[in-house]
Amino acid sequence: MSTHGQAEPEEHHGDSRAPGNFARDATPPELRPDTPGSDESVGDVGVVIVAAGSGSRVGGGELKQFRWVGGKPMLLHSVQMFQRRPDVAMVVCVLPKAFVGDPPPWLFQCDTDRLLISVGGRERTESVANGLEDLPDEVNIVLVHDAARPFVSDAMIDRVVAEARRGHGAVAALPVVDTLKEVDETRRVVRTVERARLWRAQTPQGFPRDLIERAHAQARLEHVSTTDDAALFERLGLPVVVVQGSERAMKITDEEDFPRAEALYATPE
Ligand code: CTP
Ligand code: MG
Repeated sequence: MSTHGQAEPEEHHGDSRAPGNFARDATPPELRPDTPGSDESVGDVGVVIVAAGSGSRVGGGELKQFRWVGGKPMLLHSVQMFQRRPDVAMVVCVLPKAFVGDPPPWLFQCDTDRLLISVGGRERTESVANGLEDLPDEVNIVLVHDAARPFVSDAMIDRVVAEARRGHGAVAALPVVDTLKEVDETRRVVRTVERARLWRAQTPQGFPRDLIERAHAQARLEHVSTTDDAALFERLGLPVVVVQGSERAMKITDEEDFPRAEALYATPE
């Protein structure tokens, strides 16, 4: 485990390239074949879990991403789920500045050799960018995930990784089923929006590393901030596809979402 940011500003990529990481895949990246899904690509997925928000819509004393849901702290669900996968080389947890030097102890109930802690930014986009900087060299595919979505399934991650390995962006998403109304400031309906081609974007979202790094570098240059990472990809004209997400991967946004998430957790996929 290593930290990046305020607590230990000097400590950076040095530790993230500790011998433990190379032991899992000693083949230098340039010698690895690009074949999608080939065994050679095991251990080249890097996950950035953004958990540096302030949870203002939930409010209360404790940060929503640290609150318990489904039997453990929200953030721990995602860390453990991603680390269950052998293709995951590293999980970078992006935490609020105040917690980087002193993370909650339960966070270490995981494979700490594959855990890095990074410092969050003011906007989500900045938090993701900070996490990307800490990914180790062996990472070719990057998954970005919201800590506020604790119940992501392995099948959903599979679909995102498989598409990202084909060289484009991949977003877990659900088709919109309700009829959509656009309204004015008095709530009077302006029009009905064609919903057939509309999907609700979730996370994880997956990308080839070089492309997502480029998209974030460009965003930083132009001071652009978006609510997801695919949007940064799209604005550069890079292709993004949707893959089937899951209702269980809902984002916990408001207080009422906690009981909803508990209920979904208790029902089978
Ligand atoms: N996030 C982050 N850094 C930020 C803002 C958000 O890492 N500066 C993370 C959150 O921790 C969350 C995810 O991005 O896991 C999605 O954000 P959201 O659901 O909006 O969470 P918050 O920003 O914490 O909540 P709110 O908008 O209500 O303050
Ligand atoms: Mg927010």
